[in-house]
Amino acid sequence: MSVSTPSPTSLTITRPDDWHVHLRDGDMLGMTVPATARTFHRAVVMPNLVPPVTNVELAAQYRQRIMSALPSDMTFDPRMALYLTQDTTAETVMAAAQDETVIGFKLYPAGATTNSAAGVRSVEGMAATLEVMQEHGVPLLVHGEVTEPEIDIFDREKVFIDRYLVPITEQFPRLKVVLEHITTKDAADFVAAAHDQVAATITPQHILMNRNDLLVGGVYVHNYCLPVLKRRTHQEALQKAATSGSPKFFLGTDSAPHVREKKETACGCAGCFSAFTAIELYAQAFAELDALDKLEGFASHFGADFYDLPRNTDTITLQKYTWNAPELVHHGDQSWVPYWAGRELMWQQQTL
Ligand code: DOR
Ligand code: ZN
Repeated sequence: MSVSTPSPTSLTITRPDDWHVHLRDGDMLGMTVPATARTFHRAVVMPNLVPPVTNVELAAQYRQRIMSALPSDMTFDPRMALYLTQDTTAETVMAAAQDETVIGFKLYPAGATTNSAAGVRSVEGMAATLEVMQEHGVPLLVHGEVTEPEIDIFDREKVFIDRYLVPITEQFPRLKVVLEHITTKDAADFVAAAHDQVAATITPQHILMNRNDLLVGGVYVHNYCLPVLKRRTHQEALQKAATSGSPKFFLGTDSAPHVREKKETACGCAGCFSAFTAIELYAQAFAELDALDKLEGFASHFGADFYDLPRNTDTITLQKYTWNAPELVHHGDQSWVPYWAGRELMWQQQTL
């Protein structure tokens, strides 16, 4: 006799953290900070501002601006990623090691993505800096794509792994490395096989979509991000990694707002703005994969464990409830088309 268990209508999990988010700066913080703090207790805040956040002083000022934008009834603990440059000094690394609001350094290959012009031009030339980071326990967060024009955009992540990450993880076995927003089976396999100081974040869009969602029937600019969506077999590998229960894979939304005019244009910016529905998007994906029981580890435990931070002690509750993601969000006199705009979602975070 088979007994069928009713599917749950409510799910309570430890409060999650977002280990990769773009909050931007200025007036926009009034929108992005509450949107992220609604769900997440901690967030790793990306430093690709103009000019970039390259040292602890700039990070402290930026963090202050973020905290000033936090509504008084919310709690939030932003952890700042510093922007690694070819000129980052050992002193800057050591200052980062002493500052608990700084999580590590983000390596952007110069030219790889939004505001990466000041990024690293020669990864090989960074060995001395990585050595200091390893010595002082400062993690390396990586945008893993090569930038050579002759390398096909769909191969850029794999080439970066083979050319740079395999050697780095062998040369620096005690350096914590997070391969951010992975998009390929190659990346998932690399992380799974690497030593236990190597982990990866996975975005909602890379679990929910593949490149057909970008290109079939038209060009869907709001699904365009970097690294770009890959073919379905890669999406399936990411789904498997995210729901595997492996502590090497955890939540990082890469929520990255660009105003509507900068997306809906001849050369649209890269970035999916998912903060308003982030946990619901992951819940949707995990539910469709029949893996809701794996959501809490991925969203709330593994990232904290990897960074040697305590797990959060409070909880959030998601209700099974069909609703539609917003079509457009406004702040000041500007508007943004969020990721998944207008589409159905099957779960909703309960607000108190
Ligand atoms: O799609 C992306 N948007 N990928 C990135 O790496 C950067 C981000 C942004 O800052 O807009
Ligand atoms: Zn990002």
